[in-house]
Amino acid sequence: MNLFVGCNGGLGKTYTKNFGEKNNLYFAKEKLNLIDILKIEKIIKKYKIKNFINFAAYTNLPLSEKNVIKCFDINCFSLINLCEILNKHKVKLFHISTDYVFNNLNENFENQKKNPINIYGLSKNYGEEVIKFKSNNYSIVRTSWLFSKYKNNFVDKIIDKIKKNENLFINNEIGCPTSSDSLSFFINKIINQNIKTKEILHFRNFPAISRDKFTLKIIEIYNKKNKKKYKKKINNILKFDIVERPKISILNCDSTFKKYKIKKIFWKKELNKII
Ligand SMILES: NC(=O)c1ccc[n+]([C@@H]2O[C@H](COP(=O)([O-])OP(=O)(O)OC[C@H]3O[C@@H](n4cnc5c(N)ncnc54)[C@H](OP(=O)(O)O)[C@@H]3O)[C@@H](O)[C@H]2O)c1
Repeated sequence: MNLFVGCNGGLGKTYTKNFGEKNNLYFAKEKLNLIDILKIEKIIKKYKIKNFINFAAYTNLPLSEKNVIKCFDINCFSLINLCEILNKHKVKLFHISTDYVFNNLNENFENQKKNPINIYGLSKNYGEEVIKFKSNNYSIVRTSWLFSKYKNNFVDKIIDKIKKNENLFINNEIGCPTSSDSLSFFINKIINQNIKTKEILHFRNFPAISRDKFTLKIIEIYNKKNKKKYKKKINNILKFDIVERPKISILNCDSTFKKYKIKKIFWKKELNKII
């Protein structure tokens, strides 16, 4: 049996919708907190858990700059005890990380030196390091710019503004939009491999694009599907908010895709499905 935590977030909801089988356990934060290690151990023992999938994270970038301790508690410190308990009961850890552990102009490879430039990226980086140091059996999957039909992601926020006919202020950061649907299929695939390993994987959709061009694509698809004519021009800004973000962030997925026999997935097709 597998135990999933953080199932009320974008990725957690998407995974549960696609693969929510009765013989696995799916918990939202209210029912199981990642920090509640005693409860986690009880569940692991009671249900003889084989895989622990961590969809939980502190993901609010502007707030993480202010609530540094809270962000580190969830994205990093909680993993210290968790890894010990998982080792003790021979449970494999599946953990999601981010391209924001890097700040490079070129492609980012799995084993490349990291250099996060904001608190969220720093906390996720140290989270990875805790797992690498402590865990006997793990897959860390780095991904980027997740979108889904659920609330609180870039696509959802843009569509909300289009519906209200508001102006759009977008920066020209370059990255790789990735559908939570496609990522959940990948995660399901690696869980089912049932292998003991210590691996870092990269998963994203293709191709890389700037935020402003991606926004134009969202508008185009929205207008077409809803027979609407949102025509406001996009106002380019240098920064969204107080948070420093990489100007370019592109995960190289070659070795992951080769290892798991994955074909490139294009975000445009995925975007069409969810708008
Ligand atoms: N979204 C992206 O663009 C993106 C990009 C790269 C990597 N990732 C990574 O992908 C993973 C999933 O992200 P997501 O987009 O699904 O984020 P999300 O929508 O913010 O979901 C995270 C979930 O974790 C929950 N959570 C927070 N603290 C918790 C705790 N202590 N115990 C249990 N649950 C807790 C949150 O609940 P509350 O909201 O109630 O706090 C939320 O439901 C994360 O590891 C994230 O770092 C995301």
